[in-house]
Amino acid sequence: MNPVKLIVFSGSIRNGSHNTKLASAVSAIAADVGADVTHISLKDYPAPLFDSEWEKENGVPASVTELGALMSASDAAFLASPEYNSGVTPLLKNTIDWLSRLKPHPFKETVFSLGGVSPGSLGGIRGLFALRTTLVGLNAIVMPEQLTVGGAGSAFNEDGSFSNERTQSLATAQLERLIDVAGRLRN
Ligand SMILES: Cc1cc2nc3c(=O)[nH]c(=O)nc-3n(C[C@H](O)[C@H](O)[C@H](O)COP(=O)(O)O)c2cc1C
Repeated sequence: MNPVKLIVFSGSIRNGSHNTKLASAVSAIAADVGADVTHISLKDYPAPLFDSEWEKENGVPASVTELGALMSASDAAFLASPEYNSGVTPLLKNTIDWLSRLKPHPFKETVFSLGGVSPGSLGGIRGLFALRTTLVGLNAIVMPEQLTVGGAGSAFNEDGSFSNERTQSLATAQLERLIDVAGRLRN
């Protein structure tokens, strides 16, 4: 059987982003457990701040159409996102708002899994609940498990793996279940 196609991206494009490190660690684990992984950066899919007037004049940006096609071609998606003021980062929310303008929008066919890293102890959990609310509002299937990693500064080894063994095993279990469910739903 073909491997499950997984797209992974971070809700931050900051240089040295902890959540981009999370996206990389997750990508490595997912490849180890048999997924066909595409790790992208939202830096490569820029879009203006959503504005209906801009959309009326210009339509949906080509970068958004391209990202939507990539998502539609994926069976599963892992979003690694920081929490900004208990919510979703403007970058990620803007990207989702634009993607939601595609017809059909690419959220129904993809199974989502979420994770976040923060310098504090909670790992951005409130941001992930806000993100979950947005995705579910778009009829996305969002897996119940979510990976929250606190203490960002010491969360990763030099080689990009998780420094904490329990985090490594929780991440592996989360990805195995995501891939199992996404594989079954595509049939
Ligand atoms: C505007 C703003 C709001 C933030 N709000 C929160 C917050 O509500 N909770 C939290 O844990 N961290 C918050 N942070 C800190 C981020 O978790 C921290 O900057 C993190 O490193 C961002 O993720 P990144 O490293 O992937 O870019 C906020 C940061 C910014 C810039």
